This record gives sequence, C-alpha cells and structure tokens, in this order.
Amino acid sequence: MKERIDELVVRERGLVSREVFVDDDIFKRELKHIFTRAWLFVAHEDQIRNKGDYVVSRMGTDSVIVSRDMEGDVHVLLNTCTHRGMKLCRYDMGNTRNFTCPYHGWSYSIDGRLVERPGELVGVPGFTTYYHGELDKKAWGLVPVPRVAVYKGTVWASWDPQAPDLMDYLGDMRLYLDYALDGRDGTEGNNEMIGGILKWRVPCNWKFAPENFIGDNYHDVSHRSVDLVGIGPSGGRGRRDDEPENVTTLGFPGLGHGVIGEPPYYSEPEYPGGWDNDPEVAEYYRRCHERRVERFGDSPRVSMTVGTIFPNMSFHGRQPRTIAVFHPISPTEMEMWRIFLVDRDAPQQVKDTARHYYLRYSGPGGLTESDDMENWTYASESSLGTVSRTLYFNYEMGLGHAKPIDGLDGAVDNGEFTEENARIFYNRWADFMKADSWNELAPVAALDQEVLRR
Ligand code: FES
Ligand SMILES: [Fe+2]
Repeated sequence: MKERIDELVVRERGLVSREVFVDDDIFKRELKHIFTRAWLFVAHEDQIRNKGDYVVSRMGTDSVIVSRDMEGDVHVLLNTCTHRGMKLCRYDMGNTRNFTCPYHGWSYSIDGRLVERPGELVGVPGFTTYYHGELDKKAWGLVPVPRVAVYKGTVWASWDPQAPDLMDYLGDMRLYLDYALDGRDGTEGNNEMIGGILKWRVPCNWKFAPENFIGDNYHDVSHRSVDLVGIGPSGGRGRRDDEPENVTTLGFPGLGHGVIGEPPYYSEPEYPGGWDNDPEVAEYYRRCHERRVERFGDSPRVSMTVGTIFPNMSFHGRQPRTIAVFHPISPTEMEMWRIFLVDRDAPQQVKDTARHYYLRYSGPGGLTESDDMENWTYASESSLGTVSRTLYFNYEMGLGHAKPIDGLDGAVDNGEFTEENARIFYNRWADFMKADSWNELAPVAALDQEVLRR
C-alpha cells in the first residue's frame, strides 16, 4: 500500500484517485495511520462542566469516554471493558464516579484521587473468592488516551505519544480557530455551546466534508436555492450577512489545515451591520464590533468564515458559528456531529436568535448543510462503480499559483477560487498514509514568527 500512495495522490498534477473515497483497504489504513496519530477534536468543555461529568465521543471507529475527574482534570478513556469487551458506557453523557460494566460487574474509577489514575479497575465481583485475590487490577484498568489537550473550551486527544503538542500541530492556523472560539468582541475564549450536539449519519466518505470546508468556494452554485429562499439573520439576504471583506483561501501545506478567511489585517473595516431581524440582537453585535475596534487598535488580527483542522474537524467562525466533526464509519459512511457556539455572556435573546438561525443553516435539517450532503452522497455512490472507481478526481484549479503570506508562518494564499487547500489536505493525507511514525511527519511550520501572538 505504501508504494501506491503516490499513485493515489498525484501531487504534481492535482489528481486524487477515487479509490481513496471507496476502497476498504485504504479506509483501514486511514484509521491506523491518521486516526491513531493525529490530534482529534473529541468534545466541548460545556459537555463536561462539573466534576464527575462524562460524555461519550469517538476517535476514528473507537468509542471513547471524555471525563472530568474530581480534581477538575479532563481525561479520555477507551470505552470498552477490559474483561470481555463490553461497551462500558452506553449513555451519551452523565455524571458518575465509577463506571460499572453491565456484563460481569467490573467497575472503574474516573475519580483520580483515591487511585493511581482515572480509569483504574477498582471493583471486581468475586475478587477474593473466585479470583483468589490474584487478578492484577492495576494492569486491567481502562485504556487511557495518552495525549489530551484543552484549548478555549475545546478538548482534543491523540493516541500517539510522539505527536507534537497541540499548539505546534495547529501552527498559525490557531489564529483562525481563535476567531471562532473568542468572543465577537475579541474576548479570549468567550464561547458557549448552545444546547446539545447534533449527530447524524451521511452515506458518504468522511473526507468530502473537511475538503469542502477547507476552502471550496467554487461549489456556491449548489446553494442557489437556499440563497433564493434567504435564511440569513437579516432575512431575505442569502445565507449570511457579514461576509469578510478580503476573502481568500489560506492554507498550511506543512500541516494540512486551511481556511476561507482574511490574511492578517491591522484595522477593523467599517461595521457592515447585520442581524437586522431583531433590534436588540443587532445592537449587541454593533457594540461587540466597537469593543473589537478598541481591543485590537492597530495590532494584527484575522477573521474567517470556515476552515478545517486536519483530519476531521471543521469550524465556522462567523455566521453560523459552529464546530463540525466527521467520524469515519465505513468507506462510504460517516457520522457527522455539530456543536453550535455563541458568546457566553450574550443576552438570552442573542443566544435564542443564533440558535434559530443556526438550525435553519446547519445540521441534518439545515438548508445549506442539506445541499452539501447531497453532493457528497452522490459523489461517493457514483465512485463505487467498477469503471468509475478507476478514474481520478480533478483538483487542478490554481495549481502552481500559491504565494506565501506575510505574518502567517508556513501559509500560502491562492486567491478566492482555487483548489489549493484541497491539495494541501490530500497531500497531508498522503504524508500520513506513507509515514511509519511522527518522526516522518514533523510539522513544517517553524513557528518562529511572533507577529500574531497575543
Ligand atoms: S465484560 Fe465487563 S465485566 Fe465482563
Ligand atoms: Fe456548502
């Protein structure tokens, strides 16, 4: 397989084999080479606010439990009983100190205080009698995910002890993630998850989604009907009402991430208005804009609409403001999750208005998301045919026209309409599929420019 990767992703020509989207062996290799190595988004902290809270998440095809122990620290544990493999926790979320397996009753602690580590096996029915006290309980705890990081409310995990720190993994893409996670006025980490999490299955290969959100401005024609209907927060004006001024696609070739947004800029453009359906909400965002102008002064800042963190997390930063995750289920099925964000300190009216708008836009019933899912579904299905799967997808647009960007370490700009970012995604995909360890994957970005650190 390793030898075939360069045939599957032909970098110099911008071609990607359809096998990459339908083949079982490639899918299995992705799970091992990408999903056990990369940093994966697993939860939002609002899902586990209190000590003892847990939420069940996924890493590739594995179920994991994300929990907060009694010290307040976050842990990620494989959700499978070590005795005979029963799925330990079958609820989506809750609060507990112990997980007890429904099969034979082994129990595991998530409270790190009285045991050596969260996930330790603490209760075994018949330990002194049937087992004669001879079971090594310390060795049979839940399997912990070794790398966990929390960043502005988002929780990330990696199975690979060799993976770089999350901040190095993100590189300067972090600035764009900050745009989504900071408040509308620029307050650090001012985001709150609205309500629950939407989860649904889509009969498509998982990569269609991150590829779409990393920089596909070209597919706008797909959304013609929703633009005609007008679902924006000001009514009758397309899908959203605050597009960035100097929109372009920015990608990080050494990292695999990319975004549709603005390169660093030094003064806030005139406020364009927005959220006109409700005067209180419109006023809230106007005040946020004024505070943003004061906060940043003439220091650099960025903005964005949508971007992807390799491999399977995308986020919208403006309208809507949301995080999406694409879990691989099979070569032609993914489970899609969406979390919706709003300023934590916003008035309830602002939160309610955002929620109504987000649901018009995103999720299984959202008008814009439905358009996208239809494309991905039919593209997956029509690539399954015996002849169809021998063809390549074409990603040639703008090949060879990328330029470096001042103020962003290791990033390139290729204009508003380009397939540069999709190429960046699949080139990084090929790097992971070929590499035998993180030694061969060290992020290329040197991270030595302090220009945008704050
Ligand atoms: S499978 Fe969990 S206790 Fe037996
Ligand atoms: Fe779309």
